[in-house]
Amino acid sequence: MADAVTMKDFAESEMMPLRLHAKTEIAQDIFLFELAPREPGDLPAFTAGSHILVRAPNRLSRRYSLCNDPADRSRYLIAVKREAAGRGGSVSMAEDTAVGDELLVSPPLNYFALDPDAASHVLIAGGIGITPMLAMMRELKAKGADFRLIYCSRSPETTAFLEDLSDPAFAGRILVHHDHGDRERSLAIGPLMAVRPEGAHVYCCGPRPLMQAVRDVTRHWPSTAVHFEDFGTSVSAAPGGDQPFSVRLAKSGRTVEVPAGVSILEALRRDDVVVPSSCESGTCGACRTTLLEGIGDHRDFVLDEDEQDDAIMICVSRAKCGTLTLDI
Ligand code: FES
Repeated sequence: MADAVTMKDFAESEMMPLRLHAKTEIAQDIFLFELAPREPGDLPAFTAGSHILVRAPNRLSRRYSLCNDPADRSRYLIAVKREAAGRGGSVSMAEDTAVGDELLVSPPLNYFALDPDAASHVLIAGGIGITPMLAMMRELKAKGADFRLIYCSRSPETTAFLEDLSDPAFAGRILVHHDHGDRERSLAIGPLMAVRPEGAHVYCCGPRPLMQAVRDVTRHWPSTAVHFEDFGTSVSAAPGGDQPFSVRLAKSGRTVEVPAGVSILEALRRDDVVVPSSCESGTCGACRTTLLEGIGDHRDFVLDEDEQDDAIMICVSRAKCGTLTLDI
């Protein structure tokens, strides 16, 4: 999956130039990119669920999940969905690149790793969110682990990797559902998740409505068994757009203004307040902060409802009031 804007960038010196060896349109507006060193050799290793940051020709950096088998270190495979309404990174990747080009690529990072202690794995993908699931399926298959995939997309024409998924090794493990753009025909996730098999973990990557649906129907699952990846693309804005607000830092007594369109985390950074963070998309839990006063506008996929009065994920969540007081 792709197109993050909140994640911290890499310096050019930290990135590798990789050659675009192949570029194929594998579904409507979805392109598979094969990136490899100019001279054959091993790339930095990765685990299923990892992504890389890629600098598009228009110099915007975008994150893309690696979808090849983690055991294959000769190349990185990513799929890019051309998002005409996006900020231009995916369009530049789709339109301004050609086989033979060199692209700057970061080492792999993983905020969406498989839990080695899970007894079984339920993978739920929406649209281009299938990409990390492919690597996961390959890793799980190699380990002989128990898994199944639920893959929702609009139509067969917009569904990437159908051929890969027809591998006999995956037979009986995959449910593909097309809604044909009609919300009335969305897959009913609830009945599929009503009973948690002992030790099962669920992993979801896709548009926010799907992730929200999975969040809602797994409220009775332990939160540590439910994993999300979205790269910050689908954080919901309030109707009418984000409003500015203030954050009071209880320990120092300082107040930091959070403008519209800027996260609390970023506003603190600009004020030289150092706080931990990792995914910066509301999915990993690293930026969890104690909320002492105020009402949070919670947009993350970490906190349960009963935790939201006292905690906030400052990388994505905002305020429903003028001032939040944080235990910082
Ligand atoms: S940095 Fe991952 S949830 Fe905020």
